[in-house]
Amino acid sequence: MKLAFIGCGNISIDHLKGLAELKKSGRNPFELVAVCDIQSERAEAFASETTRLLGNNPSVYTNYREMLEKEEIDAVSVLLSHDLHHTVAEDCFAAGVHVQMQKPLAISPSFGKKMIVDAKKYQRVLTVAEPIVLGAEAVAVARAVKDGFIGPVHLVVDYAATTEVAERGFFGGTPWRHMKGNAGAGWINDHGVHHAHLFTEVNGSIKEIFAYTDIFEKELSDGKVTIQPTGEDTAVTVFRFENGGLGHWMCTSAAHGEGTNGTWFYGGKGCVRHGEYVSLDGGNIVTMKELIKRYAADIEDNPFAHSYIELKEAIIDGITPISSAEKGLEALSVVFAALESAEIHQPVKIQEIIDGIKHTYEDTVIKEMEEMKAQA
Ligand SMILES: NC(=O)c1ccc[n+]([C@@H]2O[C@H](COP(=O)([O-])OP(=O)(O)OC[C@H]3O[C@@H](n4cnc5c(N)ncnc54)[C@H](O)[C@@H]3O)[C@@H](O)[C@H]2O)c1
Repeated sequence: MKLAFIGCGNISIDHLKGLAELKKSGRNPFELVAVCDIQSERAEAFASETTRLLGNNPSVYTNYREMLEKEEIDAVSVLLSHDLHHTVAEDCFAAGVHVQMQKPLAISPSFGKKMIVDAKKYQRVLTVAEPIVLGAEAVAVARAVKDGFIGPVHLVVDYAATTEVAERGFFGGTPWRHMKGNAGAGWINDHGVHHAHLFTEVNGSIKEIFAYTDIFEKELSDGKVTIQPTGEDTAVTVFRFENGGLGHWMCTSAAHGEGTNGTWFYGGKGCVRHGEYVSLDGGNIVTMKELIKRYAADIEDNPFAHSYIELKEAIIDGITPISSAEKGLEALSVVFAALESAEIHQPVKIQEIIDGIKHTYEDTVIKEMEEMKAQA
């Protein structure tokens, strides 16, 4: 199948490497025939990297609509800021093209819902390349927990404090990530949506959440660009899963001096230390390698490589991907429920966000997005 990329920024190279790994093992279902970025030098440089890693010369575009018109494409990977996800996806579906979206599914839940409706309307596939639930290790952990390997999960603890903003000026080197009109929220969305997706993949749906959020750093600069962020840099949350388990989740991109990072799933028989190992009662340590052998020997190691296998299986075989648009919407709605809670000072049910019953926070995002578009 013929594939194109829209957006050749930070994350696109990881996708290219994922495709290169599949090619090396003779399992790449896609030929990357075209790449597009409004910055032509980025698109050109990315095309050269494609030639180096995949061996073919993709066509280069600076206008994705022109690319959709001129190229015979089966699927695209959309690698753009969050405010563009829903419009670009709809244009792709209307052109008869399947879509792999980057996380978060959309800038906000109502646009995520619209994208799922649009995909159905045009009978096209929509997946999310969510690396935290893809690849052998992630799949092994989720399958092991569902199999009762650590017993019922009573508590999830997740702490993330990054000093990247202190060191580089902006998270990911990109000012847009700090503006809710571009990114939907601050770090609790850009980083947090990965973790919300992880929590729900491993332990099922979250019912309700309460949060405090803040913007502690009122001005950010990398020496060239200076902004006044509108997205939260810090969030502290507590939540309860549908199955009764509890969660304590904090993230900040306003850390200085020293960062921290860790996720623990505590069950009745042991603990998953995410990305590290499983620790069972009696001091028994199970390595991720052992867990993969037992639970996910059939899955590619590289999460981005896995995302393209998922995309192909969804298109050709109609298989529901692990990282489906619906699961992406659920993760995004967990984040927005936390943000809504902080806004209205009450616990919020995730379903109230998915159903559009509570949207005070989302309204502020849409307002800023529209103002930014009007000024552009
Ligand atoms: N681990 C992960 O899964 C991961 C990591 C980083 C980013 N992401 C996600 O990937 C997406 C892109 O993030 P990024 O860090 O690569 O952003 P980025 O800002 O580095 O890159 C975006 C690119 O899109 C281009 N662009 C903007 N408007 C365009 C348009 N209309 N047509 C074509 N190109 C356009 C920009 O010039 C830029 O090169 C976001 O959704 C982000 O959340 C995921």
